[in-house]
Amino acid sequence: PRDQVSYTFHYYLHARFNGPLPMSAPQPVRLEDYRPPAYHVEQARLRIDLSGETARVDARLELRRNPAAAPEDTALRLDAEFLELEALHLDGEALDPAALRAADGALVIPDPGARCRVETTSRFRPAENTALSGLYRSGRMYCTQCEAEGFRRITPYPDRPDVLAPFTTTLIADRTACPVLLSNGDCIEAGALDEQRHYAVWHDPYPKPAYLFAVVAGDLSCQEERFTTASGREVALRFYTEPGNAGRTEHALASLKRAMRWDEQQYGLEYDLDTYMVVAVGDFNMGAMENKGLNVFNTQFVLASPDTATDADYEGVEAVIGHEYFHNWTGNRVTCRDWFQLSLKEGLTVFREHQFAEAMGSAAIERIRQVRLLRSAQFPEDAGPMAHPVQPKSYVEINNFYTATVYAKGAEVIRMYRTLLGDTPFRRGVRRYLERHDGEAATIDDFLACMEEASGADLQQFSRWYHQAGTPQVTVRDEYDPEREVYTLHCRQHTPATPEQPRKAPMHIPLAVGLLGPDGAPLPVQLAGEPADEAAHTRVLELREAEERFEIAGCPQRPTPSLLRGFSAPVAVEYPYSDDDLAFLLARDPDPFARWEAGQQLAVRVLLAEAAGEPRPGGLERLEAAFRGALEAPGADPALTAEVLTLPSETYLAEQLEVVDPQAIHDARAGLRRALGQALTAHWQALCEQHPGRPWRHSAEEAAQRRLANLALSYLVAGSPRHLDRALQQLERSDNLTDRLAALAVLADSEAPQAERAIEAFHQRWRDEPLVVDKWFRVQATASRPDALEQVERLTRHPDFTLDNPNRARALLGAFAQGNPACFHSPDGRGYRLLADHVLALDARNPQLAARLLGPLSHWRRYEPQRRTAMREQLERILAQPALSKDVHEVASRSLE
Ligand code: PHE
Ligand code: ZN
Repeated sequence: PRDQVSYTFHYYLHARFNGPLPMSAPQPVRLEDYRPPAYHVEQARLRIDLSGETARVDARLELRRNPAAAPEDTALRLDAEFLELEALHLDGEALDPAALRAADGALVIPDPGARCRVETTSRFRPAENTALSGLYRSGRMYCTQCEAEGFRRITPYPDRPDVLAPFTTTLIADRTACPVLLSNGDCIEAGALDEQRHYAVWHDPYPKPAYLFAVVAGDLSCQEERFTTASGREVALRFYTEPGNAGRTEHALASLKRAMRWDEQQYGLEYDLDTYMVVAVGDFNMGAMENKGLNVFNTQFVLASPDTATDADYEGVEAVIGHEYFHNWTGNRVTCRDWFQLSLKEGLTVFREHQFAEAMGSAAIERIRQVRLLRSAQFPEDAGPMAHPVQPKSYVEINNFYTATVYAKGAEVIRMYRTLLGDTPFRRGVRRYLERHDGEAATIDDFLACMEEASGADLQQFSRWYHQAGTPQVTVRDEYDPEREVYTLHCRQHTPATPEQPRKAPMHIPLAVGLLGPDGAPLPVQLAGEPADEAAHTRVLELREAEERFEIAGCPQRPTPSLLRGFSAPVAVEYPYSDDDLAFLLARDPDPFARWEAGQQLAVRVLLAEAAGEPRPGGLERLEAAFRGALEAPGADPALTAEVLTLPSETYLAEQLEVVDPQAIHDARAGLRRALGQALTAHWQALCEQHPGRPWRHSAEEAAQRRLANLALSYLVAGSPRHLDRALQQLERSDNLTDRLAALAVLADSEAPQAERAIEAFHQRWRDEPLVVDKWFRVQATASRPDALEQVERLTRHPDFTLDNPNRARALLGAFAQGNPACFHSPDGRGYRLLADHVLALDARNPQLAARLLGPLSHWRRYEPQRRTAMREQLERILAQPALSKDVHEVASRSLE
């Protein structure tokens, strides 16, 4: 009976907040089942009244049968969830909404005719919308999040991306609580309704899918600037925040202007409305959202001030501002036919964001960071139970498919088009795609067809990048014929099996190759049989077969190959380099990415041998020499030096092993850091002293210097705790969060009493700044100290900890599970239980976030037996709960399959 009670209560909660519950295993949605919509929406008119606790939404939809729909598809389906339906009229006649409701909550009207008008009235309570999907409250404001399927939580609607409509929205709210009322497009009317309430009418002329709809209401400050487009259109840029954050949008505004200009220059794309609005919201499930003309941003990716944002945050703001802006064309003007096409907008937009970042800063450094992220987030995903192609074939909950694969690997696929076709044909292809499909919902195949037409290339084999999951492994062997002066590369490729895809066909892989002579001089790469003027120092070999070879002519001596320059494809390359080769490439390769990569591979070898308990003879000395070389290299770029001196992450190291013991990896890495800290003390000290010293300002050069100085500080303290004082002083004296946080991170690793006092004092000082408090939690969650797990357990009971704020939940639980492998994987399973407890607590309130936090447990099969069992037990425990959300159910069940 007790179970019964809690089950019923759970069910109630779930139905109340998240719509009906899947009683049996939830049914997947399949790409192959796609059918065009039965109806188009010609006009959508909404009236949203936010003046009471209960929001009331009146919708009037003008609908027309879709001539392209199958003749038997005559029913009109209006998705609905989380709504109380009060009234429904079809062409002015009242219908009983309860009688038309399908099991999943949707309204289904059997055959409303070729043209019809549907009017609905619905109600819901924004303050109870803890899922943060649909219309909800954040702090004292109201905002919306509709991607992917949140609009159905605002009003009944054909909530699918291939239904595009112009929207006219009237917003009504209390004049004092919500003086600012915003929606997409232009404000065409506003005024007072009565003593208490006012209204605003917004019209968006661009037909759009419902997932791009947005409204915002609140008491907000606004920073406004103007931008003149290349063709002379005047655009007002307006950034809205809660009053406490006014004055922190300067950097985002400047970033937006750079992004607008860059898109004009690079792609010839201009902004198309009179206003571009960005609203900063404290409670948000993701980073930001590209709603037409009215972006909604997680505060983390828009607010920036020296006291509340680090150098990395400043870069993050610029990148995400760019990303959402670029969506205006790649996503909004041309949108996706269905959610299987998600990478059509996300892969392309992430690639554009990367290009933008490369243009604004250092291309090589940007590329290194992109690859780090791909390897630490996407490669594991591609090797685990959630592996899926860039174009997935089925899903249970689409929110689970906003993944590193769809985003980051999707961006790599776009980059490969450019690498294979050349920049000019690539840009021509993008233009053609945008022109041909402007105002439409398109597919990945449409994009590929435009690329083929613009370049004349055959991309059939290339299209496998969209359909085959898994990271291709490329194995390279070579031979040298001194007589013919021919150097031959033998390449084999193999893509490992992934769930539902046991066998893979060969991929079309661009492999950028350079050759170095014994003195380090770059050699021309001239394929045998080619005229000499084809020779280049970096040559893109096109792999298409499971096995093939490439003969390179005119090599008077055996060269050292530099493979996968610039990371020309999202693959793993294996070549039998000697340690000497790697040290040589690290010192001499003209490609900075390849230099960094050689250093990482050298470190990986040393660390993996150490973790396996079989230290590599002379490994430490060699790495020390390599580091010394990087530190002493005349005229080196400090940003690249910092990347070279950063050891590969524990996650990336774990990724190289069949069976993972996270503690062994951690100990190996910590041991190497200690050894390097001691061996190079004088160098680290010198770097710490070279700190800019000037008042903080945002600049790439100074950020690189700070990064290097703070890396040096962390090596120093790793080498000996007597350097802790330096960190304490830095924490006291710095004028910016980057340096304070770097010092704090070093202190958080220490168990010394003065370090713990400093951590406490930091909280006292910054407790009123949520984004800083997030970092305070994060630093402790990822601390390298044996009792970090107990610390995290304690912090879950801290008065400032809450599962209701996604940033806070991620800062403690997400950071711990992903960024502290040794402690999260405590062999007694307590880390797993802690995570599972919170996932379950969160699931009834915010299933999207719960499913995301669960991710790290899905890799259970990779761990040694004791941990593997403990992880599986938690997944099974989760799956055994009644009333799980689709989101968590899908992740847990796929993990156990
Ligand atoms: N479309 C958003 C982006 O990539 C991400 C997002 C997805 C935000 C789903 C909210 C919900 O910028
Ligand atoms: Zn995006």
